[in-house]
Amino acid sequence: MPEAQFHADYEFLQKQQRLTYEEILRVARVAVGLGVSKIRLTGGEPLLDKNLTRLIAGLAKLPGVDDLALTTNGMLLAPMADKLAASGLQRITISLDSLDEDVFRRMSGGRGDLSTVLRGIEAAERAGLSPIKINVVVQRGVNDHTVIDLLDHFRGSGHIVRLIEFMDVGNRNGWRMDQVVPSQQLFDDVVRRWPLQSADKSYPGEVARRYTYVDGGGEIGFISSVTEPFCGDCSRARLSADGMLYTCLFATHGTDLRESLRNDADEAELTDILSRIWLQRADRYSELRSPELAEAHVQRKVEMYRIGG
Ligand SMILES: C[S@@+](CC[C@H](N)C(=O)[O-])C[C@H]1O[C@@H](n2cnc3c(N)ncnc32)[C@H](O)[C@@H]1O
Ligand code: SF4
Repeated sequence: MPEAQFHADYEFLQKQQRLTYEEILRVARVAVGLGVSKIRLTGGEPLLDKNLTRLIAGLAKLPGVDDLALTTNGMLLAPMADKLAASGLQRITISLDSLDEDVFRRMSGGRGDLSTVLRGIEAAERAGLSPIKINVVVQRGVNDHTVIDLLDHFRGSGHIVRLIEFMDVGNRNGWRMDQVVPSQQLFDDVVRRWPLQSADKSYPGEVARRYTYVDGGGEIGFISSVTEPFCGDCSRARLSADGMLYTCLFATHGTDLRESLRNDADEAELTDILSRIWLQRADRYSELRSPELAEAHVQRKVEMYRIGG
């Protein structure tokens, strides 16, 4: 969210434009009825919501939700970790692109504080929010030279670092193909230092290719969304704070569920709407991606801060 546009006087969504927890739970209940078993709270930054534990408690109570996770930048995590775990959150993913202070500060818009995030990770560990995943988006010339140090730091900790190819999400990150470090190249760099052996997928449709260090240093994952797209296995839908349902990270449009929720659609109607959206879905942006088109920034894609990855 570039500061020039989202300045102090920017009019963010008003309370009545955002779904209430009750409305989110209604959508979640219907989705679970249709077979969804994994729910992730992301953002924006989910921990900015001081009452989030109420929503988590509601989601955790839904029969059929067997994986309840959250992705955060970690800045507000330390004081909340215990409460998150107590409300029913099972595990957490922290975005941390570098352990180099300068690189980290630059990549977090000058606001992030590395030691605060590391304290958040420790607190999450103590609270039992594991396995903890550390998401690292690798950008050539920005943080690629700090990846091995970061892996070294987390080896043996039980945390799973996942190296993610930099994607052309939204319309504002100025993406260029030459900024992408292909997973294969990262893999070769890692193997030169620590031999790896491949591990099975932990569930069908898992986005990361998993490996373990041969010397017992733990697990590492590679997410190759650009060079080896996995749209065929993609089973994710994303609900934005204002009630739009998007079936692809790169969607140019979504379906307004808030309207239906506020017009008192019952569970059967919502089930019908959701299943129709899912059955009609034909998303495969990453398989069709043309670097030239993506670099031209001509498509109006949903912004990442609305759908959180
Ligand atoms: C957008 S964040 C939202 C949640 C939270 N605010 C955070 O920082 O983790 C979700 C995930 O998307 C990843 N991400 C952001 N921009 C990306 C990009 N251009 N390519 C690939 N992954 C990206 C982040 O690293 C993060 O792990
Ligand atoms: S591009 Fe869209 S359909 Fe393909 S994996 Fe990503 S979110 Fe799923």
